Amino acid sequence: MNKQKIILDCDPGHDDAVAILLAVASPKIELLGITVAAGNQTIEKTAKNALNVARFVKSNVPIAIGSAEPLVRDRIICEQVHGESGLDGFAFPNYPQDFDKRHAAQLMIDLIMANDDVIMVTTGPLTNLALAMKLEPRICQRIKKVVVMGGSTDNGNTSPAAEFNIMCDAEAAYIVFNSGVEIYMCGLNITRKVLVYDGIINRMAKINNEVSDMFVQLMRVFNENQRKTFQIPAAPLHDPVTIVSLIDESVVKFTKMNVTIDINHGPSYGRTNCDVFDYLKQEKNVYVAMHIDVDKYWDIVESAIRTFSK
Ligand code: BDR
Ligand code: CA
Repeated sequence: MNKQKIILDCDPGHDDAVAILLAVASPKIELLGITVAAGNQTIEKTAKNALNVARFVKSNVPIAIGSAEPLVRDRIICEQVHGESGLDGFAFPNYPQDFDKRHAAQLMIDLIMANDDVIMVTTGPLTNLALAMKLEPRICQRIKKVVVMGGSTDNGNTSPAAEFNIMCDAEAAYIVFNSGVEIYMCGLNITRKVLVYDGIINRMAKINNEVSDMFVQLMRVFNENQRKTFQIPAAPLHDPVTIVSLIDESVVKFTKMNVTIDINHGPSYGRTNCDVFDYLKQEKNVYVAMHIDVDKYWDIVESAIRTFSK
């Protein structure tokens, strides 16, 4: 079986942490590298978190630090959900901070130019990928597809109109969505269906290995913070939807439609305007996730965590 080669650009972040562990655990995926975006916290914090999670799940892939700031707008973070560290709830060992020396955008470029059919998976703001596309436009012909956690066909979670990852750097999202590369968008309309209820946490706790401990402790804090912030019964585990969609194609169903990114600095800044009903008769340019098999999703998360049992 040919493994799917991916680069994961992330901003850990509780749900990013689970995306990392799934990418490392899956026999269907070859993780070439991790690049880090500022988003849920400052770049120093998200970089440290990415390295801690990767090393905890025994991955030695190169990890490169990306831009501290979005392309145009001012930086925002999501401390109310992910906490002061960006990954509150679990104490990692003190790993050597052995980051790759290259900028995240440069690591992306080098890996994409050296490997055919790379899939870019993004679970944070799109700043690094947009920069890479501008620095080395040839990567746009080489990337197999971009699988994005971001946007929504319906309301946002950071403004009435916008989802956090797109809102953090809508100009970057605009560049990526208009790059000509095939885009698969996993937005809130789908990710809000995979809620980490206490029952899910208890189910994973029963696995009883180091990684299930990490999952359980992180998810307890994530749940509590999301409940307080959004008055919802449990936290949506957004980011792993990207990786799960690659592990088992039957779990997430995509429909191709016209999507535009609003970069007007008004109330809808950062909205992914998804023409679900094809009102505008414009080019269908993005595959948008419209359905998810929730039971299969949790089965995949569970079997990934189980791979870490000796
Ligand atoms: C996205 O925002 C971040 O807080 C999460 O990690 C996820 O990538 C959901 O809107
Ligand atoms: Ca994220």
